[in-house]
Amino acid sequence: MSDLDPLVHEAREAFSAAHTPADLENAKARFLGKSGRVTDLLKGLASLAADEKKQRGAAINQIKQQVEEALNARRQALADAELQQQLKAESLDVSLPGRRRGEGGLHPVSLSIERIEAIFGSMGFDVADGPEIETDWYNFTALNTPADHPARSMHDTFYVEGGLVLRTHTSPMQVRYAVEHVQRYKAQIERGERMPEIRVIAPGRTYRVDSDATHSPMFHQCEGLWIGEKVSFTDLKAVFTSFFRSFFETDELQLRFRPSFFPFTEPSAEVDIAFGSGPLEGRWLEVAGSGQVHPNVIRNFGLDPEQYIGFAFGMGPDRLTMLRYGVSDLRQFFDGDLRFLAQFR
Ligand code: PHE
Repeated sequence: MSDLDPLVHEAREAFSAAHTPADLENAKARFLGKSGRVTDLLKGLASLAADEKKQRGAAINQIKQQVEEALNARRQALADAELQQQLKAESLDVSLPGRRRGEGGLHPVSLSIERIEAIFGSMGFDVADGPEIETDWYNFTALNTPADHPARSMHDTFYVEGGLVLRTHTSPMQVRYAVEHVQRYKAQIERGERMPEIRVIAPGRTYRVDSDATHSPMFHQCEGLWIGEKVSFTDLKAVFTSFFRSFFETDELQLRFRPSFFPFTEPSAEVDIAFGSGPLEGRWLEVAGSGQVHPNVIRNFGLDPEQYIGFAFGMGPDRLTMLRYGVSDLRQFFDGDLRFLAQFR
């Protein structure tokens, strides 16, 4: 055993006390650095005689090698530990089920509107869309609604700046669509040729000052308009019967017209349906307003009421959705609660 052995031992201790690569480099400097202890021993060789130098040099080199080995072993150990640490932190449990992306779906009312569009589309109806902020003209005046009509009151209608209103129904779309249609066929009409019939539905959002289990300040309507030279109430009844039977997928469905009043139709009727079976069997439920378009409104379309006639209707997709799925509170449609909405995916 040489007098140098304790140095190797000390170096090993110093290296194992180092727990980070930086600590280890510091410890290395104390032994192998420019003025480290092993280096100092080598410098001391200069003052020795030749054969002593040889012997002592070999011994020093031997311990230097041992110190270097200890250093490398510790370096490796620290690197291994770090890798283990990293692997642990990034561990991946391949037996866990994968995370799925949330699956979206259409809102139940949107599903109903798509159904309505498909069914009326199959009967040759176009689908139109229009502004939710309307002028007084389209929402009321053009629809033959007198200045003192109660629907115009602030209790019923949301007014916005500039004399505009949040449309209270989709009926303004009757006028917007018909006026555009008449414009398109103007030349033909002026030559006394036949104008293609107007056949359109216009679903969308509508607004009224109203809120309870069956009324929401924002709700949906779907307008319908069919204008031609020989369009009658019989056609309206046929279209409605066929529509509701398709929508609710039952031929047992009954339809009833109840006399009513709207300024823009004359005569006017409320439409009730009744189911032949199921939880609502035999109960009459109001689903739409309708009527033969008033001559004043036909005039506002730009047409001659002596030549053109037809019907209009407005129904509530929210109501139809409630009936179709058995939902009892309309507000659930607009609360945004996913536990409710996810049922319709
Ligand atoms: N706009 C009427 C309403 O909101 C419904 C309706 C539309 C009635 C078309 C007749 C014709 O109550």
